[in-house]
Order: sequence, then structure tokens, then C-alpha cells
Amino acid sequence: MAFDVENIRRDFPLLTQTVYGKPLVYLDSGATAQKPLSVIEREAELYKSLNANIHRGVHHLSDRMTALYEQARVAVREFIGAAKSEEIIFTAGATASINLVAYSWSERFLSSGDNIVISHIEHHSNIVPWQLAAQRKGAELRVIPVDDSGELMLDALDTIIDSRTKMVAVTQASNTLGTRPDLKRIIAAAHAVGAVVLVDGCQGVVHGGVDVADLDCDFYAFSGHKLYAPTGIGVLYGKSSLLDAMPPFMGGGDMVDKVTFEKTTFAPLPLKFEAGTANFVGAVSLAEAIAYLRQFSEEDIASHEHNLLTYATEQLSAIEGLTIYGTTADKAPIVSFNVEGCDHYDIGMILDKMGIAIRTGHHCAQPTMERFRVNGMCRASFGLYNTTADIDALAKGVERAVKMLR
Ligand code: ALA
Repeated sequence: MAFDVENIRRDFPLLTQTVYGKPLVYLDSGATAQKPLSVIEREAELYKSLNANIHRGVHHLSDRMTALYEQARVAVREFIGAAKSEEIIFTAGATASINLVAYSWSERFLSSGDNIVISHIEHHSNIVPWQLAAQRKGAELRVIPVDDSGELMLDALDTIIDSRTKMVAVTQASNTLGTRPDLKRIIAAAHAVGAVVLVDGCQGVVHGGVDVADLDCDFYAFSGHKLYAPTGIGVLYGKSSLLDAMPPFMGGGDMVDKVTFEKTTFAPLPLKFEAGTANFVGAVSLAEAIAYLRQFSEEDIASHEHNLLTYATEQLSAIEGLTIYGTTADKAPIVSFNVEGCDHYDIGMILDKMGIAIRTGHHCAQPTMERFRVNGMCRASFGLYNTTADIDALAKGVERAVKMLR
């Protein structure tokens, strides 16, 4: 379908509202994206007419819901280019996906004296689970440094990655700086020493997608809610050879084969990692969000979002005393900034009163804040429904806020 942002906006009912009497300008899709009507209606329709637990009943509704859930798995597989449906695990979100790997993979593959490599620009979801795993196993956590532009300093890989490196966990796109690291180079360096790579696709999958086969990453994690789908559903992709070798993460129904008090045997992939009642409505609604996105060409979405990023960078840079953090060439559509003499929180509060929603604070990436010697930033992040008019409102709003605060 042709990419027409005004038509697209009509698909997102939330965007039509006013906030404090002003038209809403939503610039916080990096925290959570709004949902198209087709996703909202799909979710409501499932609860109205099809709700039944999956993989359990012999009855009609359960059978139909199970079929839709498994079709959603196929839709995700196709969307991210995975080879097999059993390599797609539904989780509660990217944080749950990364914790699953950090726990289960490290139980099997991490030993005392090994090391895990992350980067300086990860958000907490791709830092803390690895710290916990390293502490549990007596391993070391190493960090790829970042330069002032927000680029990872990959020349340091030669000294950071060594024969004791077992895992490299890195973002596809920084939630704060927008940086898209050179994943192929990182993956090649990790694989050269026999380490595996988890890519955190939270901010990446929505801006240009992913092909996990081409990338040759070993694990890939993302959340549905940043991809125009409901909250509480996420995905973990893992190569089946690794997932098969990993012990279960959570125990419960659906992940078992035979349970006795003496011993339990487990279901094969993917159910081994889907204990309890899955968020089946969320998974099917995620497939609906993917179908919505796939109406448009990836190039059209990428070009629209890149234009927004370029325009926002120009408009904001013209404001005196404003610093943009993250200036790499191939950024995701995310602009973080501060204005000299103004607190990020105050700017966010004033913009809010103008109906403009941005994120302020440490963006769940405190080490990034420390690296850039600030305690917080303002962040505008764009979705496919944003317009240059949204950016004009932002730039004018920031100028006004700065005048008031100074
Ligand atoms: N990680 C999310 C963000 O960047 C919540 O805002």
C-alpha cells in the first residue's frame, strides 16, 4: 500500500485526542507505540468471540484459538526471517526474553572465569540480567565503549572479546542515542571465538525490521508494544540447537511432557519455554500488528522516519544552547537532547501542558547518562504516524519552554 502519513494517522484513534485542550503530539513511541484500530479490534474480537485456553481443550474455541496462536508464531517467524517456527518463543516482552536467555543459557553454558560482553549504550533490560548471570556464575561483565558521537568503539573488540567470551549481548538500536551498531562485525568477532550473540531488537525491529538468518545472531529479543501491538507480549528467537540444549527457565503447565513426583520430562521446543497460560490473545494481536506493518514497504517506512529524524535534528539544532546526544550517520529515529540552563524534567513538564508527549529522565539507560555526564535527557522518538507538523510543534514548544525556564 502507498505510504500516506495522513491516511496512516486515521488508523490510530488515540492520536485524534486533545490533551489540556491542545491536539496531542505523541513523540514517545520509543517507550510504547500507539496501536492501529485493526489491532485494537482484533484483540476485542478475540475476547468477544474466541477466548479459550490453548493447547488444552478439545472444544471448538480452544482448537480455533490454538490454531491462531500457532499461526501467529509462523507470522513472527516470517517477519524476522527465522528458519523454524519452533525457534520463536512467545514471552511477556523483551525483558522476559533476555532474562530467559541470561538465566537458562548461562546455567548450561557459562562458567566461572568466563566473560559476557555488552555495550555502553544498552538499556537496563540488556545490562541487569547479564550482571545477575555473571554474579551467579562467577563470570566477568565487559563493556564495549562508546565515543562522543554515540558510535561503539569496535576497534576495542580485539581486546574485549577473547577465548573466555561466551556471550555478546548488544542492541540493534540504542533507545537513547539512536545508534545502530555494526552488528555483523560484532557477530563475526564473537563467532570467531565461539561466543554466541543476543541482539536486543526493542528499538530496532520497529525501524527497519530484521533478518535473523542474514544477521546470523544466535538470539533476538523484542517487545510487541513497541511494534504497534499490545503490551505483555514479546518474542525470543533462538537457534534451535541452543534452545534445545538449554534447561527450562520457568516450570508449569504446557512446558511438560510427563510429570511425576519423582521426575518431570519436558515438552519439545517451543513449549519448553512457554510455561503457564500463554498470552495467546497478545500473540494473535501481535500478528495483526505485523500484518498492519507489512502493508507498507520497509523502504517507505524507513524513508519517512529518516526524513522525520533529519527534520527534527535541523529544527532542534537551531535552538540556542541545545545539545543533541547521538550524532551517528545511520541513527534510528530517536532524538535525545538537553538545553543549557534547563532541567530536562522541566522541559518535559512544560511540553506536556502543550499536549506534547516526550520522555524525560534516564531512559532506563543510566550508564549512558553517566557516559555523557548528565542525569537525564529529553527524548523525542518517532513512529510511522508522526509528521513534520509534530516536529514543528516540538521545536516551538522547546523554544517556549526554554524562554520560560530561563
Ligand atoms: N525502554 C523503553 C524506553 O526506551 C521503556 O523508553
